[in-house]
Amino acid sequence: MLIKSISLTNFRNHNQYYLECNPDTTLILGENGCGKTSVLEAIYILTRGKSFRATDPDIIKREAPFYRIELTYDNGETRVATYNHQVKTFICFDKKSRRLPKKAKHPVVLFQPSDLNLVSGSPSRHREYFDHIFSELSEEYSTNLSKYEKALHQRNELLKSDNLSRDALFSWNLLLARYGSNLHKMRQEFIIFINENLNPFYTSIAENHDLVFLKHKTELKNITESAYLKFLEQNFEKDHYLGHTSFGIHRDDFEFFFNANPASGSASRGETRSLILALKFVEAKILEEKLGEKPIILLDDVFSELDNLRRKCLINNFKDHQVILTSVEAVTY
Ligand SMILES: Nc1ncnc2c1ncn2[C@@H]1O[C@H](COP(=O)(O)OP(=O)(O)O)[C@@H](O)[C@H]1O
Ligand SMILES: [Mg+2]
Repeated sequence: MLIKSISLTNFRNHNQYYLECNPDTTLILGENGCGKTSVLEAIYILTRGKSFRATDPDIIKREAPFYRIELTYDNGETRVATYNHQVKTFICFDKKSRRLPKKAKHPVVLFQPSDLNLVSGSPSRHREYFDHIFSELSEEYSTNLSKYEKALHQRNELLKSDNLSRDALFSWNLLLARYGSNLHKMRQEFIIFINENLNPFYTSIAENHDLVFLKHKTELKNITESAYLKFLEQNFEKDHYLGHTSFGIHRDDFEFFFNANPASGSASRGETRSLILALKFVEAKILEEKLGEKPIILLDDVFSELDNLRRKCLINNFKDHQVILTSVEAVTY
């Protein structure tokens, strides 16, 4: 399914905006601050269900009573979202709902300039990035992760209290062990999938033949649910002293390596750009394989960050996808 058009009313700085999309590449050209990213944001809300950068009170045009965005697909289907300072409503298949229904979602690969800093980012940034990808690939991952995060929050709150018994943590330990061991397993599987694909893409972009891979740094190592639970129970005193949970999947990291060396610190600017490009190609490939539909590619201002060679690779790789890109200057592709 391809996007045919998107229209915005009172969305960010736009009073009224309408864009007709091409089946292949659509360029949104304009000065900084003219509202280009906002158009991608609206498309993202109507394909994925929520913005990649803000919540509705920030998005609604200042002083406006409501916003409305509407997307049409080439098969005639439409998706509408409205927000009036109180209620967010989606209208899909002639039905109203508070969330974008699963069957109304469409896979998307979003590429922003900040993604180019991923290699040198912190462990929490790495987790956030890959948790997002894995959640897009698997509904189970997404729901388990939010349940894990809620249980972790509750356990950490309890750990901050002075008079705490082991028993008070038991039910939270059970939940963390159940969801944590499951998420750990899924992370291991997804990483294998990424690594199978990352290197071929990387060598097709980069001039060198370095071996690149993504390492899942974890102290859990194929852990079972019962072993996970045991660790949490053993750590009671330590965690109570620290006031937070010191063991679990929330401490994992995902780190890129070139040959045997961590990419952060050793890789050049060009190499990290090629690596992130390769990662985006992998994302598109695995989304298509898992969900059976080609993702729409949203490129936000990334051309200015890439040299000619990498621009060509980007366009060439996504030539069979619908690509919507923003830029401050005319680009040739
Ligand atoms: N809620 C809002 N109401 C009105 N204007 C907004 C709102 N949020 C952001 N803006 C403004 O909208 C403009 C659009 O931002 P953005 O889409 O990021 O532009 P671009 O990507 O073209 O640089 C910015 O100048 C910003 O100040
Ligand atoms: Mg922008």
